[in-house]
Amino acid sequence: MLNIILLGPPGAGKGTQAARLQATRGMIQLSTGDMLREAVAAGTPIGLKAKAVMERGELVSDAIVSALIGEGLDAAADKGAIFDGFPRTRAQAEALDLLLTERSRSLDHVIELAVDEDALVTRITGRFSCAKCGTGYHDSFRPTHVAGVCDVCGSTEFVRRKDDNEQTVRTRMAEYRAKTEPILPYYEQRGLVRSIDGMASVDEVAAQIDAILDGTA
Ligand code: AP5
Ligand code: MG
Repeated sequence: MLNIILLGPPGAGKGTQAARLQATRGMIQLSTGDMLREAVAAGTPIGLKAKAVMERGELVSDAIVSALIGEGLDAAADKGAIFDGFPRTRAQAEALDLLLTERSRSLDHVIELAVDEDALVTRITGRFSCAKCGTGYHDSFRPTHVAGVCDVCGSTEFVRRKDDNEQTVRTRMAEYRAKTEPILPYYEQRGLVRSIDGMASVDEVAAQIDAILDGTA
């Protein structure tokens, strides 16, 4: 049962790759961003706290996201976990160690998606997803096969994230550089970090990740 972190700035492809791993390997995608967006949509107390922070592109509190990850791990006790968008601070990295130890789990890999920030703005502003089944698409890089119809469920309704505008993306990137990138040495000293080329195509990035998980890279 592998437990891995996908680390990278907004638009690096964490969610795209985590969803694929979940579908192909029976692992569970634990995305704090998705969990928070669900809380916002449902109007829960956490959602009410997180909404404005997320719209500004800033980070939600360490305590909230760490608790969400703990719940996610408990709900998937028998599955390997893909941490997508968590941890994002040193405090979250330490919280994750504790959450894993308490459950007799350990981290196998921290996969860093190395990307060119300027290209990410294009990736993010072109992103949309199916309103019904959540499948992710991109205006240029991953359009639906039939315009306006979801490939997976046939729905004709799509949504775009509220924080996917250029200004908020810049703030999200600055947050990544200031708070998240500095946690890499925490994992490097344990020999866990594998850096891969996140600018390659979706399939090529997937192949690089598979090679790491299969121990062939
Ligand atoms: P979150 O939802 O985690 O957003 P993010 O980190 O900004 O990352 P994204 O989801 O934007 O990008 P991604 O790497 O998943 O890329 P994707 O695969 O979609 O967090 C949102 C907010 O929630 C934060 O700002 C914060 O407020 C809060 N939050 C969440 N977690 C938190 C935490 N731990 N602590 C505190 N606050 C937290 O790909 C992007 C697009 O590119 C897609 O359209 C895709 O089709 C396309 N694409 C993907 N890969 C490729 C490729 N190889 N080539 C071409 N196109 C590609
Ligand atoms: Mg994502």
